[in-house]
Amino acid sequence: MTTQVLPADDNALALAARLLAEGKLVAFPTETVYGLGANALDAQAAMGIFAAKGRPADNPLIAHIHDGSQLELLCDVPPIAEKLMNAFWPGPLTLIMPRRPGVPDAVTAGLDTVAVRMPSHPVAMALLKAVNLPIAAPSANRSGKPSPTAARHVLDDMDGRIPLIIDGGSCDVGLESTVLDVCHGRPCILRPGGITRDMLESVVGPVDVAGSVLRPLQEGETALSPGMRYRHYSPDGQVTLVEGGESDVVPALVQLYRHAEDNGHRACVMCFTEHVPALAGCRPHDIGSKDRPEEVAQRLFDTLRRLDDEHMDVIFSEVVPAEGVGLAVMNRLGRAAAFRSIRARDVLEQAR
Ligand code: TXA
Ligand code: MG
Repeated sequence: MTTQVLPADDNALALAARLLAEGKLVAFPTETVYGLGANALDAQAAMGIFAAKGRPADNPLIAHIHDGSQLELLCDVPPIAEKLMNAFWPGPLTLIMPRRPGVPDAVTAGLDTVAVRMPSHPVAMALLKAVNLPIAAPSANRSGKPSPTAARHVLDDMDGRIPLIIDGGSCDVGLESTVLDVCHGRPCILRPGGITRDMLESVVGPVDVAGSVLRPLQEGETALSPGMRYRHYSPDGQVTLVEGGESDVVPALVQLYRHAEDNGHRACVMCFTEHVPALAGCRPHDIGSKDRPEEVAQRLFDTLRRLDDEHMDVIFSEVVPAEGVGLAVMNRLGRAAAFRSIRARDVLEQAR
């Protein structure tokens, strides 16, 4: 199969809507990351997504809609969900709600709930309107790879596997939507994203955060969100997070980089814009300003993909505070590092 990449004009949207209506797959931009879409009411089409991504069948998909009237095809709407939709839709918030029978098991992985979101990206909206079906769309990466934030990333992963990629430029948020369970008592963030805990709490009061957001699942623990179980967001190289105050982290990164290079590794650092000059000899990858976690979110997946393109095998990264959008950044970065982290102070003391 040849994969066409088309700019997001009327012709491309008409072609995309036709392909989706025929049960085929189309990748399209959203404000978070690129999605790999299929008709959410067609089990066969949804199964095609799992094949193209190499995704485990027990990891459910998000259904995307453009209008509240489509909800009745998919789910019951708890009152608290209605408040959240009014506040944050369209936008990067996915709600887990009780499913209706018309939703194929392939979409929900057999769960009694379904994930739904209304994206705000104009191209996603235009496509959803044109096809007028709920569209199941996971991130358009091969399973295990960082989510795609540009059409080129999608092509790298999906060339020959899908007929069409709509190119709408790079994604604003850069991390996947916040996934919020609203059908089991107090709302619970299963996956942090651009809509932060504070933003949610300002509308509905106290919100929990799933324990596994900042740590690996423990032996015997069930994943509230099945996607959290899998190795995720990982570049091929080994990432280590370096924690501590600024005055320790920068010299520790220099030490770690030199040590890795001396041992024959191809090493680099992921650091804040402000630290690039001090780390000029350590193949610095600029992850954005230390004062702007949204910028770090926006660049993170592109940076992780670049590490593979440049065949890095050992990577040391700065971290952001796990609050606000920083919680989403650390959720992804922690998984990219398989939760491997080291204290800058310890590195410096060992070198002494
Ligand atoms: O921003 C996004 O959410 C992007 C764009 C394309 O919309 N989509 C996305 O989909 O990130 P995906 O499939 O990569 O992630 C969906 C997440 C997974 O962690 C999955 O386990 C979880 O949502 N999920 C889906 N349905 C669920 C359900 N019924 N209960 C719990 N978690 C669910
Ligand atoms: Mg994904």
